[in-house]
Amino acid sequence: GYMVSTAATGKEGMELYRKEAPDIMILDMRLPDSNGMDILENIMAADPDRIVIMITAFGEIRLAVKAMKLGAYDYVTKPFEFEEINLLVEKAAGLIRIRNELDLFRRLRHEYMYEDMVGKCKKIQAVFSQIEEVAKSPATTVYISGETGVGKELVARAIHRKSSLSAGPFVAINCTVLDEKLLQSELFGHEKGAFTDAKELKKGLFEVADGGTIFLDEIGDMNLILQAKLLRVLEEMSFRRVGGIKDISVDLRVIASSNKDLKKEMSEGRFRSDLYYRVNVVSLNIPPLRERGDDILLLADYFLGRYNKEFGKEIKGFSPEAASLLVNYIWPGNVRELKNTIERLVLLTRTAEFLPAHLPPEILGWEKEIALPESDYLGVEFNQAKKEVVDGFEKKYLTDFLKHYKGNVSQSARAAGINRSSFQRLIKKSGLTSRQFVN
Ligand SMILES: Nc1ncnc2c1ncn2[C@@H]1O[C@H](COP(=O)(O)OP(=O)(O)OP(=O)(O)O)[C@@H](O)[C@H]1O
Ligand SMILES: [Mg+2]
Repeated sequence: GYMVSTAATGKEGMELYRKEAPDIMILDMRLPDSNGMDILENIMAADPDRIVIMITAFGEIRLAVKAMKLGAYDYVTKPFEFEEINLLVEKAAGLIRIRNELDLFRRLRHEYMYEDMVGKCKKIQAVFSQIEEVAKSPATTVYISGETGVGKELVARAIHRKSSLSAGPFVAINCTVLDEKLLQSELFGHEKGAFTDAKELKKGLFEVADGGTIFLDEIGDMNLILQAKLLRVLEEMSFRRVGGIKDISVDLRVIASSNKDLKKEMSEGRFRSDLYYRVNVVSLNIPPLRERGDDILLLADYFLGRYNKEFGKEIKGFSPEAASLLVNYIWPGNVRELKNTIERLVLLTRTAEFLPAHLPPEILGWEKEIALPESDYLGVEFNQAKKEVVDGFEKKYLTDFLKHYKGNVSQSARAAGINRSSFQRLIKKSGLTSRQFVN
């Protein structure tokens, strides 16, 4: 599938070249009215990236070499098989495709990329410059707050990479997933025989991260006993392995993060205030996706490009209606939810463009509800109006709980004070699924 135009003379060829700017040009060295070499030279002077394949006569190797030096992409020697030229064209087309991709990527990267983060809105640009700042002081503890999926871990990694510790390790641990005993031996390690399962000596992550950065994810989920231990480590930068007697000193940066409101956790006695102030030397708050305006589309395009490539698709983009739905949705799962949504869309969509009909129900349903308070009710029946408000309220209510409890229906229902099956029924009625809130 290539579009081909032909010209019989050098003059005609140059006219076509100017008019059509072809990606690939096949140029004979001997032309009725001029010399192919001169034409090549002209083209290369104006446009050194243009791909020109030369045709040379048998025995003109020296000319072919000269053409290559001038910047020709390759050459074939007369007489040649069609397949020869076809292969060269295919190879060149591959090069052009990669070049275009790179161009796009470079453009994105230049304008809106910082490390592996995409963002151009003021709030995110402010985060990028804060990263630059804190990266300069490698001993400072940093606390990163923000809702689930906003990119806290990416920010932590960027701080590490930008700092003088970047040659050292970056070690991340999620404080939620482990019980207390496990977390303690995970963080500080254990001596051989410290407890029944301790068959070998094991270095803790604090030791592994020495000389680099340790990232304590979901620090708000640590229990009070571990918090006390952590505080001691942060203050002295030394600790003992479980069952050990020797103090081990380390030199590293601690970055902590949480999607809980640590101040609230503190005031309710679930988080030690001394640890709070120790961790909160510098804090970065990552804004939720819904507050980033057009960055939603920028990120959507970025993920579209990635998944197009991954799944071998060529979806061009979003129709204006679909784009506006994306911008208006509340994105409770933030960038992670957007990324997963685009991945699913690319996988399932066969058309060249995303239309509203392709979007999942939660995104389709939202616009109407948030638009409602601004419209007036004249002409709407009471029951209908009430139903719409209640539906909107229910959806928002459920979303808040499911978001907080990461899609755990039992916990959400308990916190909301209704039984699980009613809660489940409401979720279904609202067109939500608990799955979309699971990380
Ligand atoms: N600005 C961004 N540009 C590109 N990708 C991003 C951006 N922000 C987040 N992501 C992607 O979104 C996903 C979620 O990011 P990340 O894991 O850093 O979030 P988080 O805040 O740590 O979430 P959680 O609180 O659930 O742990 C990742 O796949 C990440 O690569
Ligand atoms: Mg995280």
